[in-house]
Amino acid sequence: MNTTSAHAAQNVHAFTQEARDAVYQAIFSRRDVRGQFLPTPVPDAVLSRILTAAHHAPSVGFMQPWNFLVVQSPQVKRRVYDAFATAHAQAADLFEGEKRSTYQSLKLEGIVESPIGICITCDRERTGPVVVGRTHMKTMDLYSSVCAVQNLWLAARAEGLGVGWVSIFNQADLQQALGIPKNITPIAYLCVGYVSHFHAKPELETAGWLPRLPMEDLVYFDQWGQRDDQQPLMAHLQRDQTAAQNVRQTAATA
Ligand SMILES: Cc1cc2nc3c(=O)[nH]c(=O)nc-3n(C[C@H](O)[C@H](O)[C@H](O)COP(=O)(O)O)c2cc1C
Repeated sequence: MNTTSAHAAQNVHAFTQEARDAVYQAIFSRRDVRGQFLPTPVPDAVLSRILTAAHHAPSVGFMQPWNFLVVQSPQVKRRVYDAFATAHAQAADLFEGEKRSTYQSLKLEGIVESPIGICITCDRERTGPVVVGRTHMKTMDLYSSVCAVQNLWLAARAEGLGVGWVSIFNQADLQQALGIPKNITPIAYLCVGYVSHFHAKPELETAGWLPRLPMEDLVYFDQWGQRDDQQPLMAHLQRDQTAAQNVRQTAATA
């Protein structure tokens, strides 16, 4: 990624090059972690920093609809794992043949091994029925809590902590396992802890489940579906995809 362009250099609001590189390093080397958790405890000072990062996410109408339920008890983790196991078995039944065996061979959670679980929720009624920016698109509050998840995920990567998002639950089972009331929506159950290593690529990509899509297929101009290979942006996108790959490989092997 070329972050040294003349424009960036002139922009007084831009971070220093070193700081910019660190931001992109966190983004490109962040991984969903399932199987590499170490039992090393996470110091409260570090946990506090990543939770504070989550709390500084953007939110529709500044409603801050999230809570952070920190799970440390092995008994509670076991209940969460049981809820996962039920849903995982149901999900496996939806695939057939080879796809089912591949699905069953994937490790899709680290609930018990990770020292900490964090459930990030959304209180859809936190600031009453009228929320600036949510009048017509009611799901904006849910997306706000997802922004908190991503902030935490990136801050954790910078701290050297792995995070794995587990969503294979019947929602009611997860709520019961964690005592979450019906009017609160669980958004993400995150497994958090130090790791033996970070993979350079998404594990689902390595397993041949799905490839990373090329940016050329995803960027449209002015109208849905309208591509334009002549746009100078397209050449930049191609270069930056390679650069992103290099950053994540270096970060994973460092
Ligand atoms: C909303 C959401 C739900 C996810 N649920 C699971 C899950 O239940 N189990 C799992 O192993 N990974 C889960 N993931 C992680 C994705 O599989 C992962 O982000 C994707 O394969 C890309 O890999 P990367 O995060 O390492 O880049 C989830 C990710 C998101 C954003």
